[in-house]
Amino acid sequence: MTLLIKNAKIFTKGTLINKNIFVENEKIRKITNQNLMADKVINAKNKIVLPGIIDSHVHFREPGLTGKEDFYSGSRAAASGGITTILDMPNTNPPTTTVERLKEKRRLAKKSVVNYGFHFGSTSENIEEIKNVKNVASVKIYMEKTTGDLIINDDEALKRIFSLPITKTIHAEGGQIKKALELGKDTLSRLYFCHVSSKEELNLIIENKKNNVFIEIAPHHLFLSEQDKEKQGSFAEMKPSLKVKEDQIALWEAIKNNRVDTIATDHAPHTVEEKHQINYPYGVPGCETILPLLLNAVNDGLLEIKKLVQLCCENPAKIFKLKGKGFIEEGFDADLTIIDMDLEKEVNNDSLFTKCKWSPFNGMSLKGWPVITIVNGNVVYNNGNIEHVRGKEVEYN
Ligand code: NCD
Ligand code: ZN
Ligand code: ZN
Ligand code: ZN
Repeated sequence: MTLLIKNAKIFTKGTLINKNIFVENEKIRKITNQNLMADKVINAKNKIVLPGIIDSHVHFREPGLTGKEDFYSGSRAAASGGITTILDMPNTNPPTTTVERLKEKRRLAKKSVVNYGFHFGSTSENIEEIKNVKNVASVKIYMEKTTGDLIINDDEALKRIFSLPITKTIHAEGGQIKKALELGKDTLSRLYFCHVSSKEELNLIIENKKNNVFIEIAPHHLFLSEQDKEKQGSFAEMKPSLKVKEDQIALWEAIKNNRVDTIATDHAPHTVEEKHQINYPYGVPGCETILPLLLNAVNDGLLEIKKLVQLCCENPAKIFKLKGKGFIEEGFDADLTIIDMDLEKEVNNDSLFTKCKWSPFNGMSLKGWPVITIVNGNVVYNNGNIEHVRGKEVEYN
């Protein structure tokens, strides 16, 4: 199968240029001015082609929590949002804390329509499993109570896990961030701080930032604040919680100053019914809105396309060592997101692909949307329709 994407502006080597992309056997074969013959041609006139968006932080809820989402529904949501690769979190039921359970999750993930990889869970007892696990993006350390039971309070266990030569993805807030920085200060392996949300946390990490320390921000912290909590109640409650305007400004400032490494959704769907309970769970879906929100910000002059690609494509690929991902270059995987910067639409709960069928951004009008998503050279999303293709598990450099 060959594919030619022509007449587009493509984002390659740090800039937008007019070239065609020729895809063969799932890879970008040629970036060219030529009109090569292909089995399929996409005329992308007036559109931009970006490297496929990589979402390093999603909860697709399999196994055990499939009333909220599963790999099929979640990956369809991802594809429609321009995401071509997701990294799934381990707080499922049972949690992904043994090699055996990871094997089962791998089997479940085969129905994903986008590419996928896994973060492995940690407990105070599973250090041998962590040592034995292969081909995962990171080990996730929950230092705070959140959805699921994966929290480690035992300092000795934390010390042992932090000393392992593996990338650590960390859920910490407030004082726990300080502790994580302390625990990780002598390690050479990577420390990736998830969903950093406040000015204080941000400054603390930035002060201690070395080249193995990374900061992730979630879109809801960039585009929503405490006031939205008053309006939306539990539907705007997640961990960490929404903050005040001052914090939001600090996050944008940090993006501008190149202090932030990635933006990832923390796609954490819960059903409407669950959100209406008194003890509602924390988390909001995000795969379908991350890119339109950011493209709208580009249209508003808040963000450059180049920065968006760094945060959502290049850096996730580098940090998690994803082979062949993150760049439009010859030899790389043909994971591509075609966007229309002029398309203006409202986020609409009824047209979402996520199983939970709601978004904290419902009703928001955004300009700049993905229109075609290509995974391994196959069109998976095309203007509202999802094709039945299968993603693959990522490989690591
Ligand atoms: C996440 C979930 O529901 O799995 N919830 C959330 O509010 N972010 C867990 C997490 O990422 O902490
Ligand atoms: Zn978290
Ligand atoms: Zn999360
Ligand atoms: Zn309600």
